[in-house]
Amino acid sequence: MYEYLRQLPKTELHLHIEGSLEPELMFRLAKRNGIALDYASVEDVKAAYRFDNLQGFLNLYYQGMNVLRTREDFYDLAIDYFKRASDEGVVHIDMHFDPQAHLVRGVALDEVMEGLFRAKEEAEASLDLSIGMIMAFLRDRSQEEALEVFEQAAPYWTRLDAIGLDSAERDNPPVKFKALFERAAKEGLALVAHAGEEGPADYIRQALDELKITRVDHGVRCLDDSELVERLRSEQVVLTVCPLSNVCLKVIDELGEHPLPALIEEGLKVTISSDDPAYFGGGLLANHVACRDAFGWDESVFKALNRNALEEAFIAEPRRKALLQRLDSIGE
Ligand code: HPA
Ligand code: ZN
Repeated sequence: MYEYLRQLPKTELHLHIEGSLEPELMFRLAKRNGIALDYASVEDVKAAYRFDNLQGFLNLYYQGMNVLRTREDFYDLAIDYFKRASDEGVVHIDMHFDPQAHLVRGVALDEVMEGLFRAKEEAEASLDLSIGMIMAFLRDRSQEEALEVFEQAAPYWTRLDAIGLDSAERDNPPVKFKALFERAAKEGLALVAHAGEEGPADYIRQALDELKITRVDHGVRCLDDSELVERLRSEQVVLTVCPLSNVCLKVIDELGEHPLPALIEEGLKVTISSDDPAYFGGGLLANHVACRDAFGWDESVFKALNRNALEEAFIAEPRRKALLQRLDSIGE
């Protein structure tokens, strides 16, 4: 089964590239940039990765990315993850990145974008991997700032696939960013948002109605609201569920109690992703293996989840078609 899951062509729709920063690379970049870390060793970093909730994680996530300063750093960050993901059978990644988290530290937008785009282009040319780009905005900051950053990114709009909304969900309802999402829609970008991770089911509805999103990141809290579930089912809105993330951030107590089987049972369009693999115990393959162990799913379930992800991915149509065919031809 492990070998089946490894070679299955896998797609993830929910990955924060800054959350793929492994402690080893963090140390290497800290040294290169002359930055002192609060940790003595890689083991020290790993020991610190115990979180009580989303905010506890975000504090370390923003601290960790402080080593990213130049375009080379962003290139190294992304190419490092792309190679690891490709080695474990990932064929497509829709990748979030957080420009505001870098701009506030005095890192220029061009450093972020040039580094990430170089890694994307190189990976697409040399690995069996395609990458969608989601410029994410921090919901615990103002809409005004988000709009400014969006305008600043104008030279890159045509190379982006979507905008997203992430960071601290509680008390930062989707509607706060209505004008930003309208603005991005006008430029032809797709719209996604984190909703219903720690926030209530109503934030999912708000993100659909007010922000006009087409994909829900996380969305696990939808089960609190049967009318919403009915709507997600009839419209087949995709949910990018992140099982290991939900355990690490205590959205649920343990994987065996995760609502994933219930979401599938409800007929929702479910996918699985790794969210922040360096912080939550592994990448997309580890998430597949953990689900197998927790739920006992057979091959057909994993195939169906990856089919869902491929159908909704930000990917060129010929590659989508070829990957769907490849997925279908894998024996069960
Ligand atoms: N939720 C919200 N914001 C984030 C996350 C997450 O899981 N990961 C990185 N930013
Ligand atoms: Zn996320």
